[in-house]
Amino acid sequence: MKGKAGRSIAALCDVREAVSRFCDEQLSRRLDTQPVAEIHEKVAACVQTVDPMMTPYIFGSTAVLGVHEQGSDVDFVCLNPTDIKDGKGADSVSEVAKGLQSDFLFRLSEVVKREHYLWGIELVRRTRVPVLRVKGGLGVDAVNFDVTAHRRNGVRNSALLRAYFTQCPEARWLSMLVKQWSKKTGLNSSVDGGCITSYGWNIMVVYYLLRRKLVTLVPVESCDVADIAPMPPYMPLETPQQGGQTLADMLMDFVRYYLDEFAPETEVMSLTRAAGETTKEMLSWTKQAEDMARIRGEKIHYRWCIEDPYEYDLNVGRNVTPFKLMLLRKHLERAQETAFLLLA
Ligand code: GTP
Ligand code: MG
Ligand code: MG
Repeated sequence: MKGKAGRSIAALCDVREAVSRFCDEQLSRRLDTQPVAEIHEKVAACVQTVDPMMTPYIFGSTAVLGVHEQGSDVDFVCLNPTDIKDGKGADSVSEVAKGLQSDFLFRLSEVVKREHYLWGIELVRRTRVPVLRVKGGLGVDAVNFDVTAHRRNGVRNSALLRAYFTQCPEARWLSMLVKQWSKKTGLNSSVDGGCITSYGWNIMVVYYLLRRKLVTLVPVESCDVADIAPMPPYMPLETPQQGGQTLADMLMDFVRYYLDEFAPETEVMSLTRAAGETTKEMLSWTKQAEDMARIRGEKIHYRWCIEDPYEYDLNVGRNVTPFKLMLLRKHLERAQETAFLLLA
C-alpha cells in the first residue's frame, strides 16, 4: 500500500498481528515492580547512613508506566523534607546547587562502595545534573540505576506523563512500542549516537495524543511532589482491546502525524499550553539562539523542539542536529513500511 507521499506502508492487518505479538510477549514477562522495590530498599538503607533526613524517590519509566521493563534503568532522586514540602518549587540550576548535589552523591557513593563492593559506580559531575550511575549486581540480575539529589522535576514530569498515560488504555503500549523502536534504531539517547531520551519520546507520544484529542490537557502545576509516593504503585498492563487493532491504528497514525502534519520549522511539542499553540518564535528558539549557545560552548539545536514542562528554557530535543533530523525522518519513513520494525 502507498501513503500520501507515495511511500510504502505496511498493511494494517499485518501491523495488528505484529502489535498483538509484541503485547503478548511483554505480558508473558515479569513486569511487576518488586525488583525495583528491592533495589529501593537497598538504596534507602545507604541513603539513611549518609543523611537520615533524605528519602529516595523513584521516577522515570517505573513511575511513568507503573511497570518495570527488562533493560530499563531505575531512576532515583534523593529529597529532604524541605524539597518535598515545597513540592511545586522550581529546581535550581546554579553552580552552588550542583555543588551541594555532588557533595551528597559523593558521600552516598562512599557508602555504596562499602556496603555493596560488587556494584559498579561512577559519579558524573560535569553533566547539567550531577548523577551517580550504579550497576547493581552481576550478570543477568544486574539492575542499572541513576541517583540524583534535591531535584523535584523528574518526579513531577514522571507523574505528569503517568497522568496522561492513565487517560487512554492504548497509551502505555504506544509508549513502550515507540521506546523499543527508538532504542533499536539508535535514535534513543541511551544508545551511542542517539539523540532523544525515552523521556523525550514520551513527550512526543503525549503531544500526539493531545493533538488527536485522545487525552485532555493536565495542568503542569497539578503535579506536586508532596502528593507523590516515593515508590510508585504497580499498574498491571492489560491485553489491548480489539485484538490490538486500535493500538495498531494509533501506532501508524503516530508516524503519519510526525512525518506529514507536525511542522518542525515552526511548531514546538509542548505540554505547557494547549496542543498546537506553542511556536518556536514564542520561545525565541531561533537560529540566532542556536548560534549564541554555540558561542558559550554549548551545543543546542532548535530543529526538533520539545519544551520541557518544568525546566526553564530547555529543549528536550536539543541534540537533534540537522543531520539527526534527516535520520529521524528516514527512520520514521521506514517505520511506516515495517510497522516500527515489528515486521522487519
Ligand atoms: P527508560 O529508562 O529508557 O526505560 O525510560 P525512562 O522513561 O525512565 O526515561 P529516561 O531514563 O530517559 O528518563 C528518566 C527521567 O530523566 C525523566 O523523567 C526526566 O526527568 C529525566 N530526563 C531524561 N532525559 C531528559 C532530558 O533530555 N531532559 C531533561 N530535562 N530531563 C531528562
Ligand atoms: Mg529510566
Ligand atoms: Mg535514567
